[in-house]
Amino acid sequence: MKLLKGALAVALATFAVGCITTSEDVNINIQKAKDKAVMEVIMSRRSIRDYKTEAVDREQMAKVIECGIYAPSAMNQQPWAVRVVDDKEFLDGVTAIAVEKMPQLKEQENFRNFFRNAPTVAFIACPEESYSGEYDCGLLSENMMLSAWSMGIGSCCLGSVVPVMNSEEAKPYMERLNLPEGYKLLVAIAFGYPEGEHPTAPERDSSKAYYIE
Ligand SMILES: Cc1cc2nc3c(=O)[nH]c(=O)nc-3n(C[C@H](O)[C@H](O)[C@H](O)COP(=O)(O)O)c2cc1C
Repeated sequence: MKLLKGALAVALATFAVGCITTSEDVNINIQKAKDKAVMEVIMSRRSIRDYKTEAVDREQMAKVIECGIYAPSAMNQQPWAVRVVDDKEFLDGVTAIAVEKMPQLKEQENFRNFFRNAPTVAFIACPEESYSGEYDCGLLSENMMLSAWSMGIGSCCLGSVVPVMNSEEAKPYMERLNLPEGYKLLVAIAFGYPEGEHPTAPERDSSKAYYIE
């Protein structure tokens, strides 16, 4: 009986020690969860090419922009200009110009606009002459897309928008973007709440990155 009591005491003590969680353990676990959250956002982001019609909530978009401008930039020059448009008339106007040039666009399934049906579009520009403007804008863009996705907002970079925006017909829309003198449009980024199934990731070629021993 004495032996049984002793064994019980040892078992209880072991259980109690196992249950003790220090604040250090909690911090480590929170950090692990955060690491996982960031990696999950990175790995699950996909280019979204169809959206619900409602514009992205402007408070959410403000967070996306803030995350964008907190990207690193060479010598902290912040060589970017970001213009966000959720005006349907603007996006439909540019769409009409694009359709005039490329009538086949209308054959796309569910085609509503030239921005992959996005209701909110960010136009990203950088100085024509700059040390690392394009690189820095790439970092800003990815920050915007990842922070958006962390809130369930889909996105897609749209290089195809640039030649249309630079066309003579789209001049009034370019003027409305009010880009600083000497800036060029680099890319547009579609934003919106995703419609339809989440795409699977196009294959990546892991042989493009490796250690040199
Ligand atoms: C600079 C740039 C321009 C792009 N332009 C277009 C575009 O005009 N239209 C489009 O549908 N996707 C465009 N994309 C999206 C790519 O096709 C997409 O990122 C790539 O296929 C990988 O897929 P994922 O983003 O889902 O991982 C562009 C991406 C980048 C980075």
